[in-house]
Amino acid sequence: MTTFTFPKNFLWGTATAAHQVEGNNINTESWVLEHLPETVYAEPSGDACDHYHRYPEDIALLASLGFNAYRFSLDWARIEPEEGEFSYAELEHYRRMLATCHENGIQPVVTFHHFTTPRWLMPYGGWVDEGTPDRFARYCEKAVNHLGDLIGVACTVNEPNIPVLLSKILPFKMQDTPFWQNAAQAFGVSPERLGLFQFAGTPEARNVILAAHKKALNVIKAGPGDFPVGLTMALVDVQAAEGGEEKAAEYQYEMNDIFLEQLEGDDFIGVQTYSRMLVGPDGIIHPGDDIEKNQMGEEYYPEALGGTIRHAAKVTGLPVIVTENGFSSEDDTRRLEYFQRALRSVTETLQEGIDVRGYFAWSAFDNFEWVAGYTPKFGIVAVDRATQKRTPKPSAYWLGKMAKENRYQY
Ligand code: BGC
Repeated sequence: MTTFTFPKNFLWGTATAAHQVEGNNINTESWVLEHLPETVYAEPSGDACDHYHRYPEDIALLASLGFNAYRFSLDWARIEPEEGEFSYAELEHYRRMLATCHENGIQPVVTFHHFTTPRWLMPYGGWVDEGTPDRFARYCEKAVNHLGDLIGVACTVNEPNIPVLLSKILPFKMQDTPFWQNAAQAFGVSPERLGLFQFAGTPEARNVILAAHKKALNVIKAGPGDFPVGLTMALVDVQAAEGGEEKAAEYQYEMNDIFLEQLEGDDFIGVQTYSRMLVGPDGIIHPGDDIEKNQMGEEYYPEALGGTIRHAAKVTGLPVIVTENGFSSEDDTRRLEYFQRALRSVTETLQEGIDVRGYFAWSAFDNFEWVAGYTPKFGIVAVDRATQKRTPKPSAYWLGKMAKENRYQY
C-alpha cells in the first residue's frame, strides 16, 4: 500500500454558488430568465436548497464530515438589489455565514461573482458593457469592506471562459433561439447587447470580464484582510486525437490560454475540471454511445484533472487551487470512483512539484444545475427538495475522511 501525505494546510472543501443553493434569488437576471416564455431553463430555481436559511446546519455538517474549507459565492443581486443601493442586512447575512465557517474550523473561500448578475445591470448590456467593470468593482469594494477581515481566499469571477467553452460544445447557438429574443426584450436591449455572463463569448465581452476581474482584484486587495485573490477557470483537458494537434492547440488557446495569459498579479489560479475534450483535425470528437458519461453528457474521465492542473500551472506560473471537480450521476459509486481517480492525479501533480494548495469537490449538495434544473446530481450530500432533508452519500464520508487524515492510501 502507498501512502501519500498532502502538504500541510491543504484546503479540503466542497463548493457551491449562491443561485444554485440559496433559494429565491429574485433580484438576479437568472430569476427573470427562468420565468420567461419559451425559457431554456428546465425549471425555476425556486427554494433551491434553502441554504440561505439553513447555512448554519449545512456548514456544521460539512465540518463534521471532515472538511476544513468551504467555497461559496455572494449574490451581488442581494447585496445591491438596485443600482447603487446596498443592503447592509444582506452584507450582515454573509458576515454571519463567514463567522459560522470560522466557528466550525472552516476556511471560507468566497466567490464574488458566480454566473448571476443583478437584473438592473442587464439594460446596460450586462457583460458586454464597458461600464460593467467599474460597477462590479464598486460592489466588490462594498463587500470586501464589510467582510474582508473574515475571508480566507477570494475568487473574483467564476469561469470567465465558460461562454467560449459552451459555444464549442453546444450543438446550437443560444443567440439563435426564441429564448434569446424574449430575454433581450425582457431586459429592454437589442439581442446583440444581451450580455449574459454564461453566453457573452465575444472578444469584447472577454475584455469586459477580464477588466472587471482586474479592478475587483485591486479593490479586494486594498480592503481589509490579507488573503489570496484569483479567478477560477472552466478547464477541460484538451487532448489531440490523431492529426488533431493543430486544431487542439487552437482550441486550447481560444478557450483557455487567452485568459490564463492575462493573470499577472493574481495569487493563484482556480482550476475547475469535469472531463476532457478530444480534438481531431475537424474539431471535437464527441464521446460515442459506448462511452460512460455524466448527466451533462461529458465523458467519465477523472484523470482530466491532472492534465488541467499541469496546463494551468505551466501557463500561469501560479499556485493552483482545484476550486471545482466532480461527477453528476444518480449512482454515487461512480462519483466515489471519480473522486478517487481524480485525487490520484492530484497526488501525481504534487509529486511532480506543482504547487497545488487545495481541492474542492463540486458540489456540497445536489443543487440547481442552471438550465438543466435539478435533474443532474453533483452533490456529495443529497437534498430532499420537499422536506429539505440532507443525507450525506458514501462519497461524502470518503472525501471527508481523506480531508481529516490529509493523506491518501491506495
Ligand atoms: C460551474 C458550476 C456548475 C458546474 C457543473 C461549473 O461550470 O461553476 O456552477 O454547476 O460547472 O456543471
